Amino acid sequence: MIPALEARSLSLVRDGTTVLEDVSFTVAPGEIYALLGGNGAGKSTTLLTFLGFLAPSCGSVLVNGRAVAEDVDGARSAIAYLPEAASLYGHLDAYENLGYFLDLAARKVSRAAMDEALDQVALPREARGRRMQSYSKGMRQKTAIALALLRDTPILLLDEPTSGLDPVAIDEFHDMLKGLADAGRSVLMVTHDVYGACQVADRVGLLRGGRLVGSFEAAAGERIDTETVHAAFAAREAA
Ligand SMILES: Nc1ncnc2c1ncn2[C@@H]1O[C@H](COP(=O)(O)OP(=O)(O)OP(=O)(O)O)[C@@H](O)[C@H]1O
Ligand SMILES: [Mg+2]
Repeated sequence: MIPALEARSLSLVRDGTTVLEDVSFTVAPGEIYALLGGNGAGKSTTLLTFLGFLAPSCGSVLVNGRAVAEDVDGARSAIAYLPEAASLYGHLDAYENLGYFLDLAARKVSRAAMDEALDQVALPREARGRRMQSYSKGMRQKTAIALALLRDTPILLLDEPTSGLDPVAIDEFHDMLKGLADAGRSVLMVTHDVYGACQVADRVGLLRGGRLVGSFEAAAGERIDTETVHAAFAAREAA
């Protein structure tokens, strides 16, 4: 099976510093892969390479089996990307923001479809017609997640998607991601949250100093063991 996403010996130099070194992993169709690592480990940088915003210094990244360097438009059209600090417009309400950004992505979406996505992320109905400057952090994040969902792409790249969400909202979000994966979508999410990564992911890769230093996979029907991953994370961080 052709992986939805593949990093092949990916290395990347930014401003003279090596920020990714020989990173290789794949994300299969229908799989949730969590890239876990501390601040500055290279998580966000990895996502940007799949979108063709940063070019590998060595190695390559592939989307649906095609090198991003050869077909950046193809890669971008297959991917919805939730950035680390998604910025929607404060003077617009949720519907207006969704409409505007989907327009830019050349997608026409009905109000009903917007409501469905906003229901999925549990954004209160009464808030949807309000300017987003009155939203809490979690409400803004939920709207940004809904925007990524409405792109309706086979691949999701999510940078700290649960940042700002409360524990109940995180559980609901993880359940939703599992549903999307069951329906065949591929998810690459990056996070520092060991518990969340283990709760939702089929596989967890541990990134430290730009290198993939560990990989953890769930046994059939089970979740990845949080203690094991936490110990590896903490040991590596202390090293
Ligand atoms: N615009 C930039 N120009 C040069 N170097 C950068 C730039 N952005 C990030 N870096 C460097 O690249 C390395 C990896 O950063 P990256 O943002 O990918 O880390 P991260 O794992 O996403 O961290 P965080 O958890 O803090 O978001 C860091 O050493 C950082 O200093
Ligand atoms: Mg980051």
